[in-house]
Amino acid sequence: MDERNNLKWFRASTPYINSHRHKTFVMFLGGEVILDRNFVNILGDIALLSSLDIRLVIIHGAEPQIANSLGEREWPHTGLMHITSQELLPIILSGISQARHKLEAGLSKGHANMRLELLVTAGNFVRAKPIGIKNGVDYQHTGTARNINSTAIENQLANKAIVLLSPFGHSPSGETFIFDAHELAKDVASTLRAEKLIYFSADDGIRDSDKNLINELTESQLSLVSDPTQKKLADLTLSACLQGVCRGHIINYKRDGALLEELFTRDGSGTQIIKESYEKLRIATSNDVAGILELISPLELDGLLVKRPRELIETEVNHFRVIERDGMVVACAALYPFEGKGELACLATHVHYRNDNRGELLLARIEHDAKILGLSAIFVLTTQAEHWFSDRGFSEAAIDVLPDSRKCLYNYQRNSKYLEKLIQAPSENTRKQDRATRLDTPEQS
Ligand SMILES: CC(C)(COP(=O)(O)OP(=O)(O)OC[C@H]1O[C@@H](n2cnc3c(N)ncnc32)[C@H](O)[C@@H]1OP(=O)(O)O)[C@@H](O)C(=O)NCCC(=O)NCCS
Repeated sequence: MDERNNLKWFRASTPYINSHRHKTFVMFLGGEVILDRNFVNILGDIALLSSLDIRLVIIHGAEPQIANSLGEREWPHTGLMHITSQELLPIILSGISQARHKLEAGLSKGHANMRLELLVTAGNFVRAKPIGIKNGVDYQHTGTARNINSTAIENQLANKAIVLLSPFGHSPSGETFIFDAHELAKDVASTLRAEKLIYFSADDGIRDSDKNLINELTESQLSLVSDPTQKKLADLTLSACLQGVCRGHIINYKRDGALLEELFTRDGSGTQIIKESYEKLRIATSNDVAGILELISPLELDGLLVKRPRELIETEVNHFRVIERDGMVVACAALYPFEGKGELACLATHVHYRNDNRGELLLARIEHDAKILGLSAIFVLTTQAEHWFSDRGFSEAAIDVLPDSRKCLYNYQRNSKYLEKLIQAPSENTRKQDRATRLDTPEQS
């Protein structure tokens, strides 16, 4: 990447930096990641995330390290999970401790260019319970998480520590049990209701049966995944999403920069897994002010929208509707009632997200809300989007018909066109129903 591309990339990443700050990301790094030559770059990227105030919990695996400790011995597996005997337990723990040691040492080193000292904390945050006997098989010291002390973890995260969890835990009776590390990552992410659960894998992400990378996977597409390892990851991630994690990501540990690309670019590098469509059209709140400003500022500079100072947006934010995607405001519109009519103002869609019906959806929402408020028409003042509105039922009219209280604010220099669309009054039934179900409309209060 040359300097200019770096600059563009950095600027484009700003909204993601803002939306990820103070969020909790749970990451799974298998033991093979620790042995890979890209490991050092991953550690650097983790240090970078921590420096951006992202709260990190890392769960590590240790398969190759355990295999190394076992030597010629076998760790029996039923097809469902390993059986950990009393005799094998110390050998497995020794493999886990090798992996943990490497990870902890690497994180403690931070990143040479950043001069960061990372605080890494590990402890008995997860209580264990035995798997017990399944189908007649006693899994002995193989266990699962009985209880995850989220308060203790949150306290560490609040202290800016990276929480490092190994795949074992102790039961209240003091016995030790070995966990499936992938499952542990899912359980921890779900308990913390993390923003993201990120699995590092040996491939770029999840592939369909034709080996094409799936950029975004939802529950209904799960049947497209045939590879059993990928299916396990997709299942776990989706199950975490169903239990309160906002989204999951599967990315390639061998690829330098895959983590940053996934988190800070629009298209990502791997597969994003979500429960359902992650775009929401809703009434704006004070938390959206920065996002709205970020969206409209370039359009104001281009003269497409009237300049609105931050203070104005802050006080009038509840007039706005926003479409939020991935924590970012990607489109917005505002409704201002004037003497029985409503002005549709500040309609904007982020340039990367245009031509996908978002403008239309916002218009429909504004029309709906205007109807609920009993307004007879909505109008716009536009310099460059006249055809967009006329294609959607607006007609040009003389400035004289502008409501008086709005006319006195009209900027004759801008010479905007006035377009209006009549609104059919809702039936009494619809009105009652809408009021009952949509109490979030601020103009009603
Ligand atoms: C106008 C705007 C909000 C539309 O957003 P969007 O999410 O892309 O809207 P939609 O997907 O519903 O509509 C896209 C269609 O409108 C067309 N369109 C976009 N801008 C247009 C304009 N200024 N005039 C006429 N048509 C326009 C697109 O070509 C596309 O047409 P197609 O469906 O035939 O391909 C967006 O282009 C924008 O933010 N423009 C800059 C700000 C602006 O001018 N706002 C209006 C202020 S009054």
